[in-house]
Amino acid sequence: MKLSHALSANQFLDSKLLNELLKSAHELEAHDGAGTLPKHLDGKIVATLFYEPSTRTRFSFEAAALKLGGQVISCESAGMFSSAAKGETLADTARTVSAYADAIVIRHPDKGSAQEVAAYATVPVINAGDGAGEHPTQALLDMYTIQKELGRLENFTVTLVGDLLNGRTVHSLLPLFASLPGVSINLVSPKELALPAENLALLKDKKITVQELTSLDSVLATSDIFYITRVQKERFKNEADYLAVRDAFIIDLPTVQKMKKSAVIMHPLPRITEITPEVDQDPRAAYFRQVKNGLYMRMALLKYLVCR
Ligand code: NCD
Repeated sequence: MKLSHALSANQFLDSKLLNELLKSAHELEAHDGAGTLPKHLDGKIVATLFYEPSTRTRFSFEAAALKLGGQVISCESAGMFSSAAKGETLADTARTVSAYADAIVIRHPDKGSAQEVAAYATVPVINAGDGAGEHPTQALLDMYTIQKELGRLENFTVTLVGDLLNGRTVHSLLPLFASLPGVSINLVSPKELALPAENLALLKDKKITVQELTSLDSVLATSDIFYITRVQKERFKNEADYLAVRDAFIIDLPTVQKMKKSAVIMHPLPRITEITPEVDQDPRAAYFRQVKNGLYMRMALLKYLVCR
């Protein structure tokens, strides 16, 4: 059975579905390079409804839809510029946008908001980030990136660094990692930003190797992938608490020199202080290639959900 919506990474744990999307992203990337992209979304309209800031996620969904021959209607700062500002419920917004569009891509500050929209929408809904909850399409493009950079989606050690408490990209990635064979996970964060207990418990249930650390030292030379994240300023109650942890982990050139020659350094972006700009020149820095991969994975997902 085909999925109706993309709300959580847990919907993509089935390797058949994941492989189908990865294969489709590869094909679409090749077509884009050759200038032969099929117009899969001809006559379709994608609505992007963003209540939180975005550069990559919104533009990549919109570019993906346009490149596949679709059209886009969009609202940014939707809390201010949609009828939400007048007090309209998400349910009514979902019903309304469904009347105009063939898919809804939503980013909203509340955990569970995309699920709520899906309950009332009559078209596919894609969760582009629900507060500190999930960001499943980022996790899918991260899988695509790992497959391309490392050449495999099994038998690797991944070290996730930064704000594991509030980072929704991490919350979506971890169940996908746990579904792959032979993956060991290191979770590196300040104590205050450790992975929520319920996310950790789910990992432990899967009986995979996980260790929580407050220093990178012991895993720098042994990790295949580093997934660096931004401390999520917008989830803090006051600036002082944020500044106290913002610079807890800085990946600079001396740090990178201790990594494997074949290591892959990823970041969902935006990067603030956690990776210094000199690192960008190192061939292991994959984060700008990761950005481009998002375009193809989002094309694959739109094609999957909208073309029935
Ligand atoms: C992430 C997000 O919005 O969760 N950004 C993105 O979509 N690439 C990460 C972040 O904001 O730190």
